[in-house]
Amino acid sequence: MKKSSIVIAGGGSTFTPGIVMMLLDHADRFPLRQIKFYDNDAARQEKIAKACEILLKERAPEIAFSYTTDPKEAFTDVDFVMAHIRVGKYAMREKDEKIPMKHGVFGQETCGPGGIAYGMRSIGGVIEILDYMEKYSPNAWMLNYSNPAAIVAEATRRLRPNSKIINICDMPVGIEDRMAEILGLPNGRKDMCVRYYGLNHFGWWCDIRDKDGNDLMPRIKEHVAKYGYIVNPESHHDEASWNDTYGKAKDVYAVDPDTLPNTYLKYYLFPDYVFNHDNQHPDHTRANEVMENREKNVFAAAKEIVEKGTAVDCKFKSDDHASYIVDLAEAIAFNKKARMLLIVENDGAISNFDPTAMVEIPCIVGSNGYEKICIGKIPQFQKGLMEEQVSVEKLVVEAWITGSYQKLWQALTLSKTVPSASVAKAILDDLIEANKDYWPELK
Ligand code: NAD
Ligand code: G6P
Ligand code: MN
Repeated sequence: MKKSSIVIAGGGSTFTPGIVMMLLDHADRFPLRQIKFYDNDAARQEKIAKACEILLKERAPEIAFSYTTDPKEAFTDVDFVMAHIRVGKYAMREKDEKIPMKHGVFGQETCGPGGIAYGMRSIGGVIEILDYMEKYSPNAWMLNYSNPAAIVAEATRRLRPNSKIINICDMPVGIEDRMAEILGLPNGRKDMCVRYYGLNHFGWWCDIRDKDGNDLMPRIKEHVAKYGYIVNPESHHDEASWNDTYGKAKDVYAVDPDTLPNTYLKYYLFPDYVFNHDNQHPDHTRANEVMENREKNVFAAAKEIVEKGTAVDCKFKSDDHASYIVDLAEAIAFNKKARMLLIVENDGAISNFDPTAMVEIPCIVGSNGYEKICIGKIPQFQKGLMEEQVSVEKLVVEAWITGSYQKLWQALTLSKTVPSASVAKAILDDLIEANKDYWPELK
């Protein structure tokens, strides 16, 4: 069986250890000969890398491991680039979330003004990594899940239309895992065949069947109408903000009971609720929650491994949600013709929607890339929402490429999450000030 060489870009990410553990769990179907880490923050990456080095030596000594901040070293001789960078790190995420709140608009990593601000930072970082890959390993594939994936995907469509990059997201996978649990399916989400359409963090399931073609939507809908995507209301273990998101899916579902929604739609359909809710405090947002929990725990676990000199009984947890990344790499490496949701150029797949939009739809993946599944016509409600949102995303990318203040102001003004052009301008001016080290200069 062919063994692959991969580089994880954003080696210092809080998700890196979970992905490494997950890769080891799935080594029988996606074997590796080499894992490299690449990051532009040597100190942050080293903390994670030193621990992973110990772990890999103990659990998979046959896999060569190295980490570097040198692009040539990182991107030479790789088959896949798995990218999860966060340009500006949590310090900037915190600003993305807190600045809109000062103007009465909720703050979120990928949605609304926060997502737009993050997009303006991410585009350059992701394109840079794509260019390194093409320079040093021209046959490799980049599997990108750096956010905001919708804006990043539109940027790569515009700027690198022929590059081998696939943009993906774990939110539908995470929700499908919950649906499978609700239904008690023995093999989890892989027992379901889904039709889903939308933009990234902005989509709907319109058909879910089991392997025999039986319709599973009615049973899922019955549960979601009562509990949202909270599987067991008696014993839930999610962080407060995620628990709230899964529960709120109940109200999001009520707006269109013909489909099942992505949880992120709460930001667009209930922005006032999100803003006023307890988990959105102007001095304490999700970025703080992540720094206090995931970041603290992952780096503490890494430190413990390094101090003990062993990863036996370590606290790194395999991130099984992320197994969709292996599904994708495996499908390409071994021509699996696997069906999965990808963020791709519409080009007629949704027949009554902008052909140049980057949409999230099922695709069949093999060694020659992906083929899109035809979705056909979508309903007026979804079409209307998506046209507005895709225009926001396109305007952001246009603003980044041309350095246009006007286009970015229009993007913020058009966002369903912002009440007026004057609020959009006030937010924009604060965001420009906060992002002066990261955004192109706007004129
Ligand atoms: P993190 O801040 O812990 O890690 C990001 C790492 O990227 C940091 O170590 C940082 O130094 C590095 N980095 C920043 N800019 C870089 C650049 N230009 N080149 C190389 N490295 C760079 O963040 P995190 O919370 O672990 O999340 C990482 C990313 O993964 C984010 O973009 C997040 O939104 C994304 N994510 C996406 C999905 C999805 O569904 N698509 C799921 C989970 C996480
Ligand atoms: C989901 C989304 C990701 C997003 C993450 C945020 O997994 O699909 O795109 O980055 O949630 O999670 P966090 O825990 O960092 O708020
Ligand atoms: Mn996502």
